[in-house]
Amino acid sequence: MFITLEGPEGSGKTSHIQPLSRWLAARGLNVYVTREPGGTAIGEQIRHVIHDLKNTEMHPRTEALLYQAARAQIVEQVLRPRLAAGEIVLCDRYFDSTLAYQGYGHQIIGLDELRQVIRFATGGLTPDLTVLLDLDVEVGLARKGRQDEWNRLDAFTVDFHQRVRAGYHELLKLEPMRWVLLDAAQPWESVQECLRKVISERLG
Ligand code: TMP
Repeated sequence: MFITLEGPEGSGKTSHIQPLSRWLAARGLNVYVTREPGGTAIGEQIRHVIHDLKNTEMHPRTEALLYQAARAQIVEQVLRPRLAAGEIVLCDRYFDSTLAYQGYGHQIIGLDELRQVIRFATGGLTPDLTVLLDLDVEVGLARKGRQDEWNRLDAFTVDFHQRVRAGYHELLKLEPMRWVLLDAAQPWESVQECLRKVISERLG
């Protein structure tokens, strides 16, 4: 089963994924955690290029293609083999981030064009379940500023991040069977409990 976590900056995806994985593993399930961009040696190098604050001249098309390059690698090297072996794969972001950030965020590249490059990168590999950890953009950026590495995309305007968040809601409406919406403003423990419940239900 392929599960992805999505959401605007600072929504807590990264803080939830390891505890979630330990909880699943304690139930005897074979779980693998990874992230995008990254998750492979090549993908981590690409991540560095995309997120480097010095790369201010990067065009959204370049950005979109670099994310797909990292994605093609993780799909072939990690995701497909592990899913084929029957593992549960938890991935911190996947192609919905491209639609939300490079599509709705920049508003330069059409969603159909993006879907084509995503299709090329993934060969159509789609999550079974995608959880949107939803949070007010300014609260999320303030949280992230306090805790994590500040990257080139974080430095985009608040308006950009508002469009990303609204974009996620649009994506959720398009595929309500794949997506689950969680309010990430709740206390951390409540969010973790909701995640466990949602995944248990899907696993049956
Ligand atoms: P994060 O791991 O701290 O969430 O950083 C990843 C950043 O990359 C975040 O700003 C979202 C962005 N991103 C995209 O814009 N498009 C993508 O396809 C992916 C995977 C991430």
